[in-house]
Amino acid sequence: MKTIKDVNLTEKRVFVRVDFNVPLDEHGQISDTTRITAALPTINYLIQRKAKIILASHLGRPDGVKQIKYSLAPVAKTLSELLKQPVLFLPDCIGEKTVNAIHRLENGEVALLENIRFYKEETNNDENFSKELAKLADAYVNDAFGTAHRAHASTVGITKFLSPCVAGLLVERELEFLGQKTADPKRPFTVILGGAKVSDKISVIDALLDKADNMIIGGAMAYTFLLAQDHGIGNSLAEPDKIHTALTAIQKAKEKNVQFILPIDSIVTNHIDFDSRTMGIMQVADLDIPEGMKGIDIGPKSIELFSQTIQNSKTILMNGPMGIFEIEESAKGTFAIAEAIAKNQNAISIIGGGDSIKAINKSGHSQDVTFMSTGGGASLEFLEGRPLPGINVLDK
Ligand code: 3PG
Repeated sequence: MKTIKDVNLTEKRVFVRVDFNVPLDEHGQISDTTRITAALPTINYLIQRKAKIILASHLGRPDGVKQIKYSLAPVAKTLSELLKQPVLFLPDCIGEKTVNAIHRLENGEVALLENIRFYKEETNNDENFSKELAKLADAYVNDAFGTAHRAHASTVGITKFLSPCVAGLLVERELEFLGQKTADPKRPFTVILGGAKVSDKISVIDALLDKADNMIIGGAMAYTFLLAQDHGIGNSLAEPDKIHTALTAIQKAKEKNVQFILPIDSIVTNHIDFDSRTMGIMQVADLDIPEGMKGIDIGPKSIELFSQTIQNSKTILMNGPMGIFEIEESAKGTFAIAEAIAKNQNAISIIGGGDSIKAINKSGHSQDVTFMSTGGGASLEFLEGRPLPGINVLDK
């Protein structure tokens, strides 16, 4: 795959697909700028090469309807502050006015188009819409790793009408860490997966059992595995129809000599109120959870067990929280594991998934991990070994 370092983009108009699908708080303010910051190396590289930079992104899922709450205008402001130079925000992404504004760009200037999902043609990968987007530029760069699993007009369709089509520096780094570093890992290689559902992660578990030495499972999905092993799980969230899937994964781990590590204790409660973010009675339960109680986080013995494995690892990949991370009382396990990873400075540590990244950021250890992936669904699909359409169409 070619990158921006392999082609000459000097003084060219370059369409850069970025993933500025950032979280917004209840006041419409950007609550996490990770994805904007992650695109800076490519944008700065192109500024230095005196390209005319046209940034395009989606925000949310407006379903082809122009809605102010999904406008990228606030992102233009933040980006301008981070770049320390003006960013021209264009209220549309196609059409004569947009083309004219782009033609007035000087070398080294940056423009950001309005949300491309205000047109349903974007997600439909519409050919005419792709052509309209392509009219804006001479060359194409994909730096939207988080959207690389979508075959949309701005990630796939447009590449038919522009040349060269190359990857940006973020995409290059994501593929290096999620790809190369886990394909031929420094060992022991420990994978830590969390989250609610086995069904969301089973393909990743299956693919990573071919590569890992240790597979740690936390979060509610651990209860499906514990149920499969006939442990009492009380009222904990589980997928009884996935018991067979869970047993197959445990069997595969045995055959591949992978240590399959499940929680040995849990923080449990008899009641959770998500609105007020409060819990009822809370206690620590050993391997078997009493009736009427629900597992909400890994317990202290599990933290100890998981941390020991993490400490002895040379490559660590974490994706997903260990408990109900949104509520303080059940976020301790996720923080403790994030801290254990950050403390192991002898390992390559790769963190993926919104909650795990939030945990690392909040714990103040973001500088201590090797790489934080900007991809949610895209990283999981990539780790599963599925081809990413937005990457496959780039020049080889
Ligand atoms: C993401 O946040 O995972 C990407 O921006 C893709 O968004 P989508 O799931 O709405 O396509």
